[in-house]
Amino acid sequence: MQRRITRRRFSTGMVAAGAAAFASKASMGALGANDRVRLGFIGLGNRGDQLLTAFQAHKDAQFVALCDVYSPYIDFARKKVGGDPFTTKDYRHVLDRKDVDAVVIATPDHWHALQFIHACAAGKDVYVEKPVSLTIGEGRRMVEAAQRYERITQAGIQRRSAPICQRMVELIQSGAIGKVTVCRCYHLENESPMGIGSPADSEPPPELDWDMWLGPAPKVPYNENRCLYKFRWFGAYSGGQLTNMGTHYLDMIQWALGQDAPTGVVALGGRYAVDDNRDIPDTLEVVWEYPGGTLATFSQYNANRAPADAKGSELEFRGTEGTMYYRGGRIEIVPEVVRTEPRPALNPLDRRAVSRRAAATRPAGEALVESGRVSEADHARNFLDCIKSRKPCICPVETGHRSTSATLLGSIALQRKRYIAWDAQAERVTNDPEANALLNYAYRQPWKLG
Ligand SMILES: NC(=O)c1ccc[n+]([C@@H]2O[C@H](COP(=O)([O-])OP(=O)(O)OC[C@H]3O[C@@H](n4cnc5c(N)ncnc54)[C@H](O)[C@@H]3O)[C@@H](O)[C@H]2O)c1
Repeated sequence: MQRRITRRRFSTGMVAAGAAAFASKASMGALGANDRVRLGFIGLGNRGDQLLTAFQAHKDAQFVALCDVYSPYIDFARKKVGGDPFTTKDYRHVLDRKDVDAVVIATPDHWHALQFIHACAAGKDVYVEKPVSLTIGEGRRMVEAAQRYERITQAGIQRRSAPICQRMVELIQSGAIGKVTVCRCYHLENESPMGIGSPADSEPPPELDWDMWLGPAPKVPYNENRCLYKFRWFGAYSGGQLTNMGTHYLDMIQWALGQDAPTGVVALGGRYAVDDNRDIPDTLEVVWEYPGGTLATFSQYNANRAPADAKGSELEFRGTEGTMYYRGGRIEIVPEVVRTEPRPALNPLDRRAVSRRAAATRPAGEALVESGRVSEADHARNFLDCIKSRKPCICPVETGHRSTSATLLGSIALQRKRYIAWDAQAERVTNDPEANALLNYAYRQPWKLG
């Protein structure tokens, strides 16, 4: 049975219920394998441009509408896709169009929830970049909107579509490195001493709609560091590298462990060395605990970039039988040497004890090195296929929400400077009522979450 999708009309941030039943061909599952999917792009900066390239790899992607609040990026994107796409600085005009089947959202994190929810309500399928939201409360509302409006959604966590990452997960889940007790991931970059600098506030460039860039975030004077690309160093728009790169890594960790949430988290860090106008840490350690007995850590060292281990890995899984290292599409297993009998006492009177100890061990598992590509184009392909089949994408918004939530809990633990116990079912902190206040934030008027 085909379902009717209720279309809603938009006023500023307020979705007024519209009576008209709406369904694009894609929504109705009426697109054939060779039909083109009509796309609207919202956010055409660094990532938006990469995603245009990713979708251009597929002949069935049609670029119907382009939106950004910074007009030079619209002009650049228009030339890149060719033809005569509709262009606008207001994403609601994209959502109003009947000739748009799906939207690709690559705006700063503080915009994801509103644009995603409005797109779902308008009957569009949605590809949304990671981290999927700025708060855990927003992420849950996004999941609910996708369910309510029966949308096909893809979170922009492209490693899910990479065969080498799928292989990594299969190996870990099949026991290739035994029981995994520790997963570690890193963001290493030496940004000292000046980081992103400290430019003075100024008038926004005339090509930029600064108020629309800020959207639900607090009204502040324009500062070039707060805006294009560098917004990720400011907590009002992003969770810093913890949510930026951390969402990719925590997603791989939760995926490999077969878990979708930690039970608790602690974090420490701050601005220790870099002198600029950022308000997120340059140095950070976060530790999560997962059911079944696994710790995960995220180490953000942005005042030092020496490799964290001999393999220079981004991510490592430490198991009882071996360690799996991951870096840039390359996986490596280094087997452990495990005991075959309990550890003997170190007896200084018995000089043969050392050699006997060595004999009571065996090498565990097989060494392995494999490489493969991680491609946005594969992730885009999966989204286009699922729009046509109406089957769930490989990384639907719920998965993106759960991976994003783990990183956001790290942020909450850092702000609260205490251990945070997490009830993943209820999505509530159970040991600190004040931490629950950080699951949402007050939007600047007139923007409302729905
Ligand atoms: N999956 C990945 O590997 C990956 C890589 C890079 C970035 N990202 C994500 O992509 C998102 C964008 O990051 P970026 O590096 O491209 O930043 P960016 O600043 O280069 O691009 C964001 C664009 O959104 C535009 N924008 C802001 N408000 C808007 C609005 N209301 N309507 C339309 N456009 C608006 C900005 O003008 C800008 O051009 C972030 O969430 C980031 O985490 C993901």
